[in-house]
Amino acid sequence: MNRIAIFASGNGSNAQKIAEYFSNINLAKVTMILSNNPDAFVLHRARQFGVATKVFDRKQFYHSEEVLRCLKENKIDLIVLAGFLWLIPDYLIRSYPKKIINIHPALLPKYGGKGMYGDAVHKAVISAGESESGITIHYVNKDYDKGEVIFQARCKIQENDTAEVLAERIHNLEYQHYPKVIEAILTDVPYPTKTG
Ligand code: GAR
Repeated sequence: MNRIAIFASGNGSNAQKIAEYFSNINLAKVTMILSNNPDAFVLHRARQFGVATKVFDRKQFYHSEEVLRCLKENKIDLIVLAGFLWLIPDYLIRSYPKKIINIHPALLPKYGGKGMYGDAVHKAVISAGESESGITIHYVNKDYDKGEVIFQARCKIQENDTAEVLAERIHNLEYQHYPKVIEAILTDVPYPTKTG
């Protein structure tokens, strides 16, 4: 059984969908949720699910190997970022080659990079007058949102869409695809890119 750790900084609705999905199949389980934010709602969700949690600060993350030690101790096979705000340090990327993935709420390489998180992304997409947006699931490397793309799905932007409305449409795409893309990675089966 594969053991998944999710890193999240905020609400954690994707973390919950992923935990639910893998609670019904034997391939993998979400066994830990880690956060840089002690007040993140995702920690509350984790407790409700009975999933172990770990909160860390900048010093522990960037200047010690405390988080790595904890991941190894918990025999984590795959790290899934779901709304995680901090850059992943080199030592973690080296320890988990092609085993750290992220989801971004836009069609990378556009609208990525530092500070591009959640609603900030949707506002930028709408103010640029784009006719479509979507989600990108990618491997994590040392730069924000620059790792190899695994999967993208698209959605139309309607006239008068607000960031809130677009966020909901994007979240639905995320819930639909992120757990299945994780499953495909773990079973080494290609997951077709969907346009829509
Ligand atoms: C998701 O839409 C995710 O794609 C985005 O944050 C949201 C988290 O929602 N991630 C980024 O913007 C990363 N740059 P959630 O906490 O409800 O899962």
